[in-house]
Amino acid sequence: MGDESKVRRVVCPGSFDPVTNGHLDIIERAARLYDEVVVAVFVNRNKSGLFTVDERIAMLQEATGEFPQVRIDTFRGLTVDYCKANDIPVIIKGLRAVSDFDYELQMAQMNRGLAGIDTLFMPTNPEYSFLASSLVKDIAGWGGDVSALVPPTVLKRLIERAKGSDEA
Ligand code: PNS
Repeated sequence: MGDESKVRRVVCPGSFDPVTNGHLDIIERAARLYDEVVVAVFVNRNKSGLFTVDERIAMLQEATGEFPQVRIDTFRGLTVDYCKANDIPVIIKGLRAVSDFDYELQMAQMNRGLAGIDTLFMPTNPEYSFLASSLVKDIAGWGGDVSALVPPTVLKRLIERAKGSDEA
């Protein structure tokens, strides 16, 4: 069996532009299963975000502040390279619906093939199965109410951003 003294560490990678209540549900549940959950904001070469990486990190830090075993980090590169550099054997991903599964399975199998890093899938709380950062940004940008979908720190910044773009 495994070494009992070893820290059980998992990474939860994503864009988090911005973090939603759906992400937080997965992060909190992962924190009950692991000694340390590293939430890693990955810089996507093909997507420019609404929020800068520093803003995304700040929102994640504020939203997860009550969980001492959650740490926020950022990386530019492959998830498996991040895992190897940080001694993390497992990736955790939330699955909202079957539609997420195809792509997530492909990435999980690729990551295992590339570096032997395993991926665990956690079903999203059905309350959040329709939730996506892209929808939140669109709704908030048009002045819609997303207060049930994101933590207060994100809501505040989305409202400020929407006001800023109205004035521009
Ligand atoms: O929140 P997202 O945008 O769905 O997250 C996607 C993310 C960051 C997990 C994915 O794009 C990723 O793993 N990026 C790092 C680069 C990488 O490892 N690419 C190969 C995947 S097999």
